[in-house]
Amino acid sequence: MGREGGGGLLRDPFGRPVNSLRISVTQRCNFECFFCHREGELNPHGELSAEEIVELVEVASALGMRKVKLTGGEPLIRRDIVEIVSGIAPHVDEVSMTTNGSLLGKFAQDLHEAGLRRANISLHSLDPETFRRITGRDMLNEVVEGVEAAIESGLEPVKLNMVVLRGLNDGEIPRMIEFSKEHGAILQLIEFQPVQAGTGPYWESLHHDLRDIEEMLKARSQRVRVRELQRRRQYYLKGGGVVEIVRPMHNTEFCRYCTRLRVTSDGRLKPCLMRNDNLVDVAPLLRRGGGGDALVEAFKEAVSRREPYWRD
Ligand code: 5AD
Ligand code: SF4
Repeated sequence: MGREGGGGLLRDPFGRPVNSLRISVTQRCNFECFFCHREGELNPHGELSAEEIVELVEVASALGMRKVKLTGGEPLIRRDIVEIVSGIAPHVDEVSMTTNGSLLGKFAQDLHEAGLRRANISLHSLDPETFRRITGRDMLNEVVEGVEAAIESGLEPVKLNMVVLRGLNDGEIPRMIEFSKEHGAILQLIEFQPVQAGTGPYWESLHHDLRDIEEMLKARSQRVRVRELQRRRQYYLKGGGVVEIVRPMHNTEFCRYCTRLRVTSDGRLKPCLMRNDNLVDVAPLLRRGGGGDALVEAFKEAVSRREPYWRD
């Protein structure tokens, strides 16, 4: 630590504070979900080392970015993932991870001890055949074990990410609500987003606008909480269970309240999930070593390039 960062939160030209970093630690994955948006990354060149990731987080932390989410690809594919978590945890208030869960049975305990606090586990179906059609893998059991290991290890909250696909898994929502409730997890229903590399012919047929599901949840809720992050709604159901809705598309509120900056697996600061034309490459600064001041400037530059993708 010990780096002064000019104090206070960085704000982008639209007045949005930037307080969290979403770092893709690899683009490699042991699943092949047909819809994967790859966190908006195109053609990565190599991966940052654990030390480089920690250095980046130290600088970001000094600039007020005190929450870090590790994503992929699949973060647990990296052999040094526990080292990465333990390296960044002392510098920030919260470390979380988005994972496909297949390796969590093995790693949950170690990750928790290294300082991981929360986990988002992708679980798009509880039906083995549907699970395989979506992820290309026969690994539903491993993922369910991963969910259980995450909860037992003390990660809190555990959220289950379900991308809702018309005619494929949207009939499973009640079952997923039950499963989440039984396990003490929060269910996140994510609207299917077209991917940049080409939407594919399937988007229109599989896209399910979550408005109708949101109406249904509203009617069944005893309380609705609006999260600060991107103004996401959380529905506390009368029969128990919590469901959060993620609808980023054409959603100006979502962008207006976006407070995160992304880092690509190959070390570029990415101001927006939806764009690849405004990245700031920090890999050369990290490789050179001692890039403290230059890194601070790079963060400021990236934040100055942030603009809401969806606007009124
Ligand atoms: N649309 C919506 N969600 C997606 N995810 C991956 N690709 C898409 C897409 N095209 C999900 C992952 C993970 C979360 C971070 O985003 O399954 O749960
Ligand atoms: Fe943030 Fe909107 Fe860009 Fe998503 S699309 S990263 S919410 S600004």
